[in-house]
Amino acid sequence: MTASDPHSYRDPAQPSIRHIEFDFTFDFRNRTTHGRARYSLDRPSDGRLFLDTHAIQIRRAQTGETPVPWSLGEADPILGQRLALQFPPGTAEFEIDFQLPPTARALQWMDASQTAGGRHPFMYSQCQAIHARSLFPCQDTPAVRFTYRARLHVPKPLVGLMAAAPEGQSTQGDLGVFSFHMPQPIPSYLFGLAVGDLTWRDISARCRIYAEPPLIEAAAWEFAETEQMLQIAEGLYGPYLWDRYDLLMLPRSFPYGGMENPRLTFANAIFLTGDRADTSLVAHELAHSWTGNLVTNASWEDFWLNEGWTTYAEFRICERLYGREYVELAAVRDRNLLFEDYERFRPTPQYTQLKFPMQGVDPEETFSRVPYYKGLFLLMLIEQSVGRETFDAFIHGYILDHAFRSLTTEQFLDYLRHNLPQAFDRVAIEEWIYQPGYPADGPVFRSRAFEAVEVAAAAFIADGRLTQAQLAGWSPDQIVLFLQQMPETLPPAACRQLDRVLDMPHCQRFVTQSLFYSLAIRSGYRAVWPRAEALLLASGSRLSLMRLFRAVAQAPWTRSKARALYERARRGYHPLTQQEIERLLVEEGL
Ligand code: BES
Ligand code: ZN
Repeated sequence: MTASDPHSYRDPAQPSIRHIEFDFTFDFRNRTTHGRARYSLDRPSDGRLFLDTHAIQIRRAQTGETPVPWSLGEADPILGQRLALQFPPGTAEFEIDFQLPPTARALQWMDASQTAGGRHPFMYSQCQAIHARSLFPCQDTPAVRFTYRARLHVPKPLVGLMAAAPEGQSTQGDLGVFSFHMPQPIPSYLFGLAVGDLTWRDISARCRIYAEPPLIEAAAWEFAETEQMLQIAEGLYGPYLWDRYDLLMLPRSFPYGGMENPRLTFANAIFLTGDRADTSLVAHELAHSWTGNLVTNASWEDFWLNEGWTTYAEFRICERLYGREYVELAAVRDRNLLFEDYERFRPTPQYTQLKFPMQGVDPEETFSRVPYYKGLFLLMLIEQSVGRETFDAFIHGYILDHAFRSLTTEQFLDYLRHNLPQAFDRVAIEEWIYQPGYPADGPVFRSRAFEAVEVAAAAFIADGRLTQAQLAGWSPDQIVLFLQQMPETLPPAACRQLDRVLDMPHCQRFVTQSLFYSLAIRSGYRAVWPRAEALLLASGSRLSLMRLFRAVAQAPWTRSKARALYERARRGYHPLTQQEIERLLVEEGL
């Protein structure tokens, strides 16, 4: 039997959900949702079944015409409530009728003014890691997979979309009804839906982009390389098993850069910069179609198996598409981002382990770059130690042997020991996984493009010299690296010069804006305030947004503005972002 998941009330001794038929009706006026779910179990139950719920109001449970007695346990702030159903002997199918409050944790509701088009409201879900339980009662653990069919009832003329195969649409009075089918079994965290004023553009036979009308052209251009990326990923990982790969552009307040919902990646509109600087986002999300969606972490303690592998594949895809230099530079950039999190986790160094016990720990609180980049660097090191050809053969086998299954870090290590034993001779794999910090054998990256950055940064720090000519031909990542090379603070006059030479008023890239504005705020460069404020009010993916908010909450001259700024921005923020900033404000005594 599989080990149990610290973030789920599921009892592994009980039957598992195998299929669900959903009906959802979304009331945009009250922001409430009515849901009905018909469940099939993988074997009959003669007794109790535990499901995860969070703030769901259960209205009725039944099997056939027979009511099923149920009870809700105490509400845990992280896990929510355990729903216990008591079945008559032999029950393999049952139905639950329920209602979701406007605050359902997995949903963000936006009024028209918060959208790109400004004419229609928008709503979307984000279930990873443990929020599916706020949308429907389920065994909310990545160790359980199910197929589903769903019907979404939405007010006309909005479009309902799901991370599943569309199966047609119809109308019922003033509602549009959109039907979907998910034939490949998925874990609950990959359930995804969105409702809004959406249009689309095909970019290849199996790739389509969905977006609000004002964004569609820009999105189709920015991500035109998607099909090519998919083909490179197939070369690395084997055939794509999810039929279509589409993208849905979400508003900037989406707390992530992207989310790998199967068949339909959700991507943040902040990446529409017009220069394809952040296309690695798509390489990343589509790589999850194998590492994550096909081969799935058994619990959130094993999250690095999803993100580390996917980041490794992202790098391999970008290497093929953009060349060695591009990924060498990206590796230096990401190593710096990793160390930013090490800094943040100084009081809780266990969070710099790839695996650490998460009993009683909220996955939202420990979300960081560690599983991504420490995981990436470990896998790169293993690749280097065994050679790329051998490693590629291993990867193929790894995917094939675990497709549509979940595994723990320990199962992964056993598999590695069995199939690639030589990796353990040269790499301290266990130290990488179970110890905090960055092991001494960590890869060090050099690149010519980075050397140019280092030279320019050192000269600028020494005597304030920096000209536009020096930056001619620099890539967007070189600018990011330049900013990462800067000290904690600079003289305000040096910030002013950077502002001008880097042409920051025209910079569209969120990570660059976040890095520069944070530096400027720490440095007391006051001219930056209106732009920093506007950026924070517009929101954006959480790690870059939090960096900037932290700078505002800490710098003596902006500290007193932080609370008021948050109060103004709050309505436009995702509930998860709100929660994170509130935590930060308390930590900073504000
Ligand atoms: N699966 C993650 C997003 C996620 C992680 C959502 C944990 C909820 C909990 C997604 O694949 C991801 O990694 N997104 C990154 C962007 C990527 C290019 C590194 C992000 O949002 O920062
Ligand atoms: Zn990811």
